[in-house]
Amino acid sequence: MPTVAVIGASRGIGLGLVERYADEGWRVHATTRMPRDPGRLGEVAGEVRIHGLEVTDRAQREAFRDALGGEAIDVLIHNAGVYGDGMTAAEVNRVNAEAPIETAELLMDAVARSAQRKIALITRTMGARRGSRRGLGKYGDSKAALNDRFRARADDWRRRGCLAVVIHPGWVRTDMGGRNAAISVAESARGIQDVMAGLDESRHGRFWNWDGREHPW
Ligand SMILES: NC(=O)c1ccc[n+]([C@@H]2O[C@H](COP(=O)([O-])OP(=O)(O)OC[C@H]3O[C@@H](n4cnc5c(N)ncnc54)[C@H](OP(=O)(O)O)[C@@H]3O)[C@@H](O)[C@H]2O)c1
Repeated sequence: MPTVAVIGASRGIGLGLVERYADEGWRVHATTRMPRDPGRLGEVAGEVRIHGLEVTDRAQREAFRDALGGEAIDVLIHNAGVYGDGMTAAEVNRVNAEAPIETAELLMDAVARSAQRKIALITRTMGARRGSRRGLGKYGDSKAALNDRFRARADDWRRRGCLAVVIHPGWVRTDMGGRNAAISVAESARGIQDVMAGLDESRHGRFWNWDGREHPW
């Protein structure tokens, strides 16, 4: 049975990913900032292990790695992110641009010793640098920074044995995307899962849409 780790799984797209992978018989490590009160995450059927993780907290990241106890992670998906209302640009950057890279690098050995060896960081189309980026604000800036950091490291991650991508999950009906968004959590989660299933050497290091189309940087 393959193993997936979903970082930021309390609700929204992360929770949808846990539901899909668990439903297909994967072993799932799911993280939440509220492990003692996991809500819907605690109700997902299947082999789901819940861990506490505030992604900006280095000690908690290391504790999560240690809790894996040497287990291999076939697929790692860093989904946690904030839109940033009421937060400074530095705080948004910490969550959206720095934590995904630091978490992936900390867990990379666990991924590299698995059979599939795949990593996805969830970004957004807004993080693309094509066209005018004026007025995108701290959220768009943080996702652009995430994309930049990823591109700077993709070759090194490949040398360390992993296949990695950034994925735009679509405009999704979640707390962040709002109720008028274009697609459901289930559609987005299925799309992300398909992109990960199709990830191979030729697709490594690139920016993908949830529906399998490549996105320009
Ligand atoms: N929805 C969209 O239309 C859309 C479009 C493009 C990209 N995205 C990206 O997709 C990802 C998921 O979005 P979503 O719509 O599912 O958002 P959401 O419903 O607001 O859920 C965000 C998730 O991230 C977690 N999280 C936030 N900050 C965290 C932190 N510091 N430490 C640990 N976990 C943290 C939240 O945990 P808590 O419950 O503890 O807050 C929650 O599980 C994000 O990276 C977002 O930028 C979403």
